[in-house]
Amino acid sequence: MIKKIGVLTSGGDAPGMNAAVRAVVRTAISKGMEVYGIRRGYVGLITGDIFQMDARSVSDIIHRGGTMLYTARCPEFRTEEGLDKAKAKCEELGLEGIVVIGGDGSFRGAADLSARGILCVGIPGTIDNDIACTEYTIGYDTAMNTAMELADKLRDTSQSHDRCTVIEVMGRNAGHIAVNTGIACGAIEIITKEMPYDLDNIAKKMLEMKKTGKQNFVVVVAEGIGHAEEIARTLQEKTHVESRATVLGHVQRGGSPTLRDRVVASEMGHYAVELLEQGIGNRVVGMQQNKIVDFDIQEALAMKKPYDERLHHMAEEIGF
Ligand code: ADP
Ligand code: F6P
Repeated sequence: MIKKIGVLTSGGDAPGMNAAVRAVVRTAISKGMEVYGIRRGYVGLITGDIFQMDARSVSDIIHRGGTMLYTARCPEFRTEEGLDKAKAKCEELGLEGIVVIGGDGSFRGAADLSARGILCVGIPGTIDNDIACTEYTIGYDTAMNTAMELADKLRDTSQSHDRCTVIEVMGRNAGHIAVNTGIACGAIEIITKEMPYDLDNIAKKMLEMKKTGKQNFVVVVAEGIGHAEEIARTLQEKTHVESRATVLGHVQRGGSPTLRDRVVASEMGHYAVELLEQGIGNRVVGMQQNKIVDFDIQEALAMKKPYDERLHHMAEEIGF
């Protein structure tokens, strides 16, 4: 029976990470385990920035964005020496299992540590929803709602000025945030890396729409495409509709998590500890058809997440 586990958050933070940490800590305690918080992801595991947690350590965090454990990127953890130091630290403290809350990169690290005999279970925490083995990642819903609220504000001023507003949303190389936010804020066009696009066609479409009386326009661009400024400039040149670009940026990563993020994070945190309790490691927790499931880390990393082309086409059909 596993008696001592650690928990860390790694990579980019995401709203709901705190709810996951809370669930891990409380589940472990209710199962009679000792649980340790590891600060700043793998950095803390290497340097030993580790502290014992009790039920009160996670009071008043379920509704807070960010992560109380802090997060970091740790290049040293990608090296043999870094991994050996982390393993030695786990052995010194008697940590038999670690819950790693993060993205793909963090799971690669978790797989490496699992291969050295420390049981690791990953929980998908990233606003991008770009982890293939799961339909949902913690933070996605909050980030999209934040992006939608900001897009609504931009639309107000775009309407007053008869302008076109080009809004860049996050998502590193994935257009999942963009397509959903685009639909929710009534964009006439959503530009993502996954689908072809043509600025000439978008400009033509705007001019057609102008003839029907439409005077302001929202275009959502995924971060992977970039160039929001350039797209706005080009559309202005081609249509003579005054255009402005706004890059929403890191505001999308903060804020109080939505109900969905809090609930999914709680479920995943609870499930991860159940796996460790049974001595199961090298797994990633995921959600499939609304059920919490788990996968071998290597298998999970080899999967490809499809882009929802149907949703994208639907957006095009109603965005005019
Ligand atoms: P995310 O987990 O959000 O994808 P990163 O890709 O930045 O974020 O990864 C977070 C951390 O995970 C890295 O700083 C590093 O410590 C560790 N990591 C990433 N890739 C690997 C890898 N290939 N092998 C071992 N550790 C890795
Ligand atoms: O992976 C989450 C994310 O917010 C991406 O959408 C974005 O590309 C990246 O992290 C930004 O990373 P950083 O906080 O290091 O600038």
